[in-house]
Amino acid sequence: MKLFTHIDQLLLAERTPVGLRRNHAMQGLHTISHAWLLVEGGLIKEFGSMDTLSDYKNSTSIKGIEEINCAGKFIMPCFADSHTHLVFASYREHEFVDKINGLTYAQIAERGGGILHSAEQLNHCSEDALYHNAAERMREIMRTGTGAVEIKSGYGLTVEGELKMLRVIQRLKETYPVLIKSTFLGAHAVPKAYKGNKAGYIQLIIKEMLPNIAAEKLADFIDVFCETNYFTPDETTMIMEAGYKYGLRPKIHVNQFTSIGGIQAAVKHQALSVDHLEVMKEEDFEALALSSVIATLLPGCSLFLNIPFAPARKMIDRNIAVALATDFNPGSAPSGNMQLVVALACMQLKMRPEEAIIAASIHGAHAMACENEIGTITPGKKANFILTRPLPSIAYLPYAFGSNHVEQLYINGEAQL
Ligand code: NIG
Ligand code: FE
Repeated sequence: MKLFTHIDQLLLAERTPVGLRRNHAMQGLHTISHAWLLVEGGLIKEFGSMDTLSDYKNSTSIKGIEEINCAGKFIMPCFADSHTHLVFASYREHEFVDKINGLTYAQIAERGGGILHSAEQLNHCSEDALYHNAAERMREIMRTGTGAVEIKSGYGLTVEGELKMLRVIQRLKETYPVLIKSTFLGAHAVPKAYKGNKAGYIQLIIKEMLPNIAAEKLADFIDVFCETNYFTPDETTMIMEAGYKYGLRPKIHVNQFTSIGGIQAAVKHQALSVDHLEVMKEEDFEALALSSVIATLLPGCSLFLNIPFAPARKMIDRNIAVALATDFNPGSAPSGNMQLVVALACMQLKMRPEEAIIAASIHGAHAMACENEIGTITPGKKANFILTRPLPSIAYLPYAFGSNHVEQLYINGEAQL
């Protein structure tokens, strides 16, 4: 048992789970000032304001408690990063230099860089080496407060390569306490071996990759890069339908560079989330506003690629449920720092600090279907939360960007750092 006392502010302290928050409901953080929080057996047991603690102690016979004085500090739910590609063979900083010299993401891809370059590297990398690289990134994201993460495949693009990536994710699930969900993204790009034969590659995904992945229970979700020069909405639909046959709900990359009907296809097929959304037409807002599909925004990618930032303000004002994630990957967002994402959301997406924190925690949890386990400080949920360094206010967190405000990350009630 651990008792955290004198917490300056306890954020998202909710006795009963609330669903997705839309519009004005994103402004309330359900904060308790001068709070205490009790953790037992890895779960959140109880909380309250300090003036209720002695009554609580008297009414229950709690013994052998470790007390942690949190004066001046905040406790908030851990970040739930619901969109990453953090298993990869190596970084691509040479492309970063190419970009500085004027090449675009599309031009780099045409020259054999981009996703296909990462696929080549991955297929030459051993499963062990891949695991150790990814494990280092896991430790890195924990240091900035991530306690739940979704990780995609998609740099294999061969049956063996995709299985290898997903087995690495499986091994991370077994060796790290962080809550991890895995997504099969075979349709990330058409590999070199299938150049000019996209239909053949889609058949490989549906007939070979999916059955093998399902047999080993290696994926929780399925994803497609629905984009000009990658996969069309019709192809995306085929793959979503194939995924459903194996119980995999879609989370789809859409509207990163162009708006081609991917959102409508994803909404029609009840995707859990649509991710990116930097380029939005009026009909895209309409399709999402009427749906329960979560809009996952990735401002780190916009910053890095120098592409438009997603119109978050307009989405929130139109009742769309917004989540935030890093997109951690070697090509378009080489950072898994959720604090930076929250800061960018405030600075560039004009989200309020409260909105950004909700989008990065409980809405991230919804976008990886673990909202009943994490995302808020709620009795019965996992004790996955952040103890901050001393903070003057909530707004200081995104305001003082570039500093690490995390003093300690608790996962299942255990200190990790
Ligand atoms: O989400 N858009 C597609 N996939 C990644 C980029 C992958 C890469 O460039 O390696 C993304 O931005
Ligand atoms: Fe991505």
